[in-house]
Amino acid sequence: MKLAPSILSADFSNLLKDVKIVEKAGCEFLHIDVMDGHFVPNITIGPVVVQSLKGKTDMVFDVHLMIEEPEKYIEAFAKAGADIITIHQETAAHMHRVIQMIKAQGVKAGVSLNPATSLNTLEYILEDLDMVLIMSVNPGFGGQKYIPAMTEKVRRLKDMIDRKDLNVEIQVDGGINPDNVREIVKAGADIIVAGSAVFNAEDVPGAVQNLRRKGEGEER
Ligand code: DX5
Ligand code: ZN
Repeated sequence: MKLAPSILSADFSNLLKDVKIVEKAGCEFLHIDVMDGHFVPNITIGPVVVQSLKGKTDMVFDVHLMIEEPEKYIEAFAKAGADIITIHQETAAHMHRVIQMIKAQGVKAGVSLNPATSLNTLEYILEDLDMVLIMSVNPGFGGQKYIPAMTEKVRRLKDMIDRKDLNVEIQVDGGINPDNVREIVKAGADIIVAGSAVFNAEDVPGAVQNLRRKGEGEER
């Protein structure tokens, strides 16, 4: 299991400090939530913020684009330092082409599905992907409640990937905490995103360790 803290819940006035804390705590990915105020009802950050963090941490830059017309911004995020770019199934009419655009930048490609979007939409693109992101809340804000039906969706996706014998990682994002992380990992999640469960904790390194222990099934 890999951990991807979402900087959406970090202290933006002390962003690098928070990033260093989760890096030191052993987190593998840095999950960067990009929102445009159109696809989702919130506005966050753009490529300049990604660029300003680049070179200051060795974590994988995992950029989650919750924006319309993602094809217009792929090059900018790739140049800013994204290692993975994830776009939403609901935003790209020409999904296959946009995935190729991401890969042409030398960046890994992910596709995200909103809670109501079917796994069937992945049928003809799954083998082109490095990662699928299952949204377990409706995107737009941190601190929402996990939608229980998403656990079965993760299980079914894992089954699709295994049946095709593909090397696609499953990321799950939204409402994950120490109480539900184990069932999500057991269902097949490889990468766990956590925003409020990490950055709203008094003891951030302790929260990271707790999530990892619970996720990996150690009761200690
Ligand atoms: C939601 C974002 C998430 C969010 C997760 O739209 O994509 O990455 O930050 O936050 P929590 O873990 O608090 O649900
Ligand atoms: Zn996200």
